[in-house]
Amino acid sequence: MNKSFWSSFRFLVPATLLVVGLILNGYAIVKFLTKKPATVTPSPSVTPTVLVSPTPEKTISPSPTPPAIAPSIEQKSVLTLKKPKFGHFPYQEGDAQQMVIIGSYATGAEYQRFEKLAPEAALALMKMIYAARDEGVWIVPVSGFRTIADQKQLFQYQIQRQGSPEKAAKVSAPPGYSEHHTGFAIDLTDGNFPKKDITYEFAETKAFQWLIDNADKYGFELSFPENNPQGVSYEPWHWRFFKYDGFQ
Ligand code: DAL
Ligand code: ZN
Repeated sequence: MNKSFWSSFRFLVPATLLVVGLILNGYAIVKFLTKKPATVTPSPSVTPTVLVSPTPEKTISPSPTPPAIAPSIEQKSVLTLKKPKFGHFPYQEGDAQQMVIIGSYATGAEYQRFEKLAPEAALALMKMIYAARDEGVWIVPVSGFRTIADQKQLFQYQIQRQGSPEKAAKVSAPPGYSEHHTGFAIDLTDGNFPKKDITYEFAETKAFQWLIDNADKYGFELSFPENNPQGVSYEPWHWRFFKYDGFQ
């Protein structure tokens, strides 16, 4: 080997390293520039949390895939980390478009409304109502799905009747805190005793006794039994579909 070969070799090694370095850097830059932005997973089809309260809340979306019908049992409500209000837990408003009619409630000839529930609860309620009918018991739905705006009106009315929000909350949940928002809670009565609708006397009816004996077979339970840990007044008429896992 002559001297000129060695001097060219000394030059060739750093030059090769330089070229390799430039290629790698170029590759990295091209990769970076052509990288797609991270896709944002759509939130579940339940309405985003719009709870009536000045308190900011953190939300966690547990299910990225909206099912065909919503809200469903599989599709959990957005978990809220909000505190209870006067013993009532916060609930997200279900999608009104998904609710199905489960009956009408009427008083007198003039007043009639159509009540709705989420599909799974509606189906179970229909089965329950007709099983009761086979045994001569007439269960009538009084109040199902409620928007937060509906509940606001009810709560205002109760404040006027009871004298304070704290007292009103014994008989009505504050807006944003009612199980009725989910579409999985229903007030029931005995069709034979219209005067006992939403009263403690309902607990003396055949319909109530039938529910106590059978409702769990259809997925329903009393939300506010006597001396419930939430401190809410006893509500023999208010039942919830416990297979829905959004209840706390
Ligand atoms: N009466 C029950 C607590 C409600 O308003 O949801
Ligand atoms: Zn109720």
